[in-house]
Amino acid sequence: MSKVTGSKKATQFTESVIREMTRLNDRYGGVNLSQGFPDFPAPDGVKDAACAAIRADINQYAVTWGARPLREAVAAQFTRRYRLPIVADEQVTVCCGSTEAMMATMLAIIDPGDEVIVFEPFYENYGPDAILSGATPRYVTLHEPHWTFDPDELAAAFNENTKAIILNTPNNPTGKVFSRDELETIAALCRKWDAIAISDEIYEHIIYDGYVHVPIATVEGMADRTVTINGLSKTYSVTGWRVGWTISPPSLTGAIRKVHDFLTVGAAAPLQEAGAAALALPQQYYLDLAANYTKRRDALVEILERHHFTCYKPHGAYYIMTDISAFGFGDDVEFARYLVKDVGVAAVPGTSFYNNAAAGRTKLRFCFCKRDETLREADRRMEKLVPAGVKLRS
Ligand SMILES: Cc1ncc(COP(=O)(O)O)c(C=O)c1O
Repeated sequence: MSKVTGSKKATQFTESVIREMTRLNDRYGGVNLSQGFPDFPAPDGVKDAACAAIRADINQYAVTWGARPLREAVAAQFTRRYRLPIVADEQVTVCCGSTEAMMATMLAIIDPGDEVIVFEPFYENYGPDAILSGATPRYVTLHEPHWTFDPDELAAAFNENTKAIILNTPNNPTGKVFSRDELETIAALCRKWDAIAISDEIYEHIIYDGYVHVPIATVEGMADRTVTINGLSKTYSVTGWRVGWTISPPSLTGAIRKVHDFLTVGAAAPLQEAGAAALALPQQYYLDLAANYTKRRDALVEILERHHFTCYKPHGAYYIMTDISAFGFGDDVEFARYLVKDVGVAAVPGTSFYNNAAAGRTKLRFCFCKRDETLREADRRMEKLVPAGVKLRS
């Protein structure tokens, strides 16, 4: 048999369904409510800082673990907000997006035989991250309608092989914001089983209804066993810049930096400079961000409910999980393809967030990081949808 083939690892996962939906959307000229990127401009000050950095010839490799101004800004912001002192030189590593930050962390900590606990539904990257790093994933269900976990089910997933648990709060795709009580339950198990928490907090600032973001690193006994992952993408509407970071205990930083160095060397140097300017934006920026997203969330919930979707109203992040049972389609992928091709709106099939496909088949995820006119156009197109059998109105 020919050896000119992909690796076994590469055959164990499919291409990203989310990114595929964007390509289908482009092919059919749809309204893209699938992949989570804004269609409105990034803040002028942040863009100006990037242009200025390029003109100032900050165009060569930055220090591999990240330009000092950005690392210092990340450490200072976390320290100020959460009163947990972070030392930039020992704890912050800048990566090419939080996507690379997660992969570098997994590759840095996983050995053969290690297990990683993942809450389900999950951001679709975590599955391939586990496979590529060689970890065995163990899934713990977030139960509808409030996406709560059963502490006994979580406890049963931990054992002596558990190396880490991946957490994402505020959560994609559910919009769940983990409460302090829930984080304490998770933390107690991490301490008991000597496990690491890898906490993806990329939607930290996109939070509604008075909910408060609690980093698990701030829960008692967790600072020394938590890798917090974040980035510029969502908070500053620059998903194409590919700048993210880890905040790790010093005991893990060396391993993460080595892996990061050989994966990518470093993130774009001028954009790291602009990142430092972004993190210097005043508190009002974050208040406006959350307030504007609250309006968009409410608008899309109203549109979707009017078009017969059952919405799980999110408390954070910028996605709405919906139940599509009313339409009588047997399959989420079939319905998503129909929606983009015949109705002209792209969304993500629920199964791409689940290991247990049956739970995902009745669901579709929409994102609302879009201009008002984009949401209005999606509304107009969905006029075609009717429940039970979904027939087109002529
Ligand atoms: C939970 C979560 N983590 C990470 C990412 C990717 O972030 P980045 O652009 O920093 O790689 C996304 C993007 O949708 C996400 O939803």
